[in-house]
Amino acid sequence: MNIAVIGSGMTVFGELWETSPRALARDAVKQAVVDSGCDKKNIQALYVANMLSGTLGTQGHLGALFAEELGLSIPAYTIEGACASGGLAIHTAVLSILSGEYETVLVLGVEKMTDHKPEEVSSALMGAGSNEERLAGATFPGLYAILARAHMEAYGTTEKELASVAVKNHFHASCNPKAQYQKPISIEAVLHSSCVADPLKLLDCSPVTDGAAAVILSKKPTKNSAVIIASQVATDTLGIAERKSLTTLAATTEASYKAFAQASISCKDIHVAEVHDCFTIAEILALEDMGFVKKGEAGKRIGEGTFSLGTAKQCVINSSGGLKACGHPVGATGVKQIVEITDQLRGRCGKRQVKNARFGLTHNVGGTGATAVVHILRKESL
Ligand code: COA
Repeated sequence: MNIAVIGSGMTVFGELWETSPRALARDAVKQAVVDSGCDKKNIQALYVANMLSGTLGTQGHLGALFAEELGLSIPAYTIEGACASGGLAIHTAVLSILSGEYETVLVLGVEKMTDHKPEEVSSALMGAGSNEERLAGATFPGLYAILARAHMEAYGTTEKELASVAVKNHFHASCNPKAQYQKPISIEAVLHSSCVADPLKLLDCSPVTDGAAAVILSKKPTKNSAVIIASQVATDTLGIAERKSLTTLAATTEASYKAFAQASISCKDIHVAEVHDCFTIAEILALEDMGFVKKGEAGKRIGEGTFSLGTAKQCVINSSGGLKACGHPVGATGVKQIVEITDQLRGRCGKRQVKNARFGLTHNVGGTGATAVVHILRKESL
């Protein structure tokens, strides 16, 4: 498979109270169109990724809404798959090109979360959990805390190792002018931040974020584009109680296994990856489940700097700052991951550029792993 990312753009991520979803979308799409150098009239379809607008803002029908807003009178689709909405939208757009129906399509991820009360956001997010989890009053920090405890008991993972994920990703975000949190933090700051759901503290969590990201995909690569060479999706049970294991996200394992097979490479070939670190434990699970490290070793290796900018011995993980520090506007995240990897492969990341990056990966998760989407990209050398 060879689907080119010919243009990409994203807004600043953060608490953007003065702006609207429409303005965020216009900003990200304008950047992507200018970047692609292609005329807007060549875009044949629009895929909009969003999770919460219908619940929080009561606005549905986003495909048609953003087509109108962007002045595009074309087929438009809304894709919802919780925090994996962005990855799923990219996957669906890729399939639409592979089907032969379209040559050039636009994928937009957009989310506006901070206008709403924290408790409203928490319960809206729990729409992605199971009915039993909702009835029990669980929240996503609480569910990931259960996964963290299970991992600590099975492998001896420590709170300090969890904290090292946040320290690494905040350091990366300090090199990213579009990140929500651009200040480095220390292990002590994470360990002493307030407890959200034991053992996860405030600085183990991704924040509530506003933002948008957009990419233009095409059948035809252009000079210095990045090319999607694998796109895979897998699902698992909605609730964690039904799972065989609490220390592995089986959907991640399956989607990554298929993606590596499709791309005919292994994780040893990846130079830079954006993985779904909605909580620090989630990055540890992602690296182990995709085979970057052996089960139980991710915390230690992250703490040693194996995946950090500057000291990476393997590949750099979450060069953007990840969900943890760049921010997590849930429906937009999977599209933003493709923007970051495209920028890395095109050598446009400034202070956070990973040298000689040729292969990149994105890993986007919905809920506690009920959906996982993995994409592998290669630098196009036309
Ligand atoms: N990381 C770093 N700093 C954060 C942060 C985070 N995740 N969340 C908030 N902050 C900062 C704020 O900027 C603020 O700093 P300031 O006092 O200097 O302005 C301070 O911490 C308090 O912020 P506040 O907005 O009052 O935090 P909160 O207690 O309302 O929310 C969480 C904190 C962690 C509960 C909230 O961010 C959250 O629910 N995160 C998880 C979101 C989620 O579940 N996403 C889906 C994943 S599957």
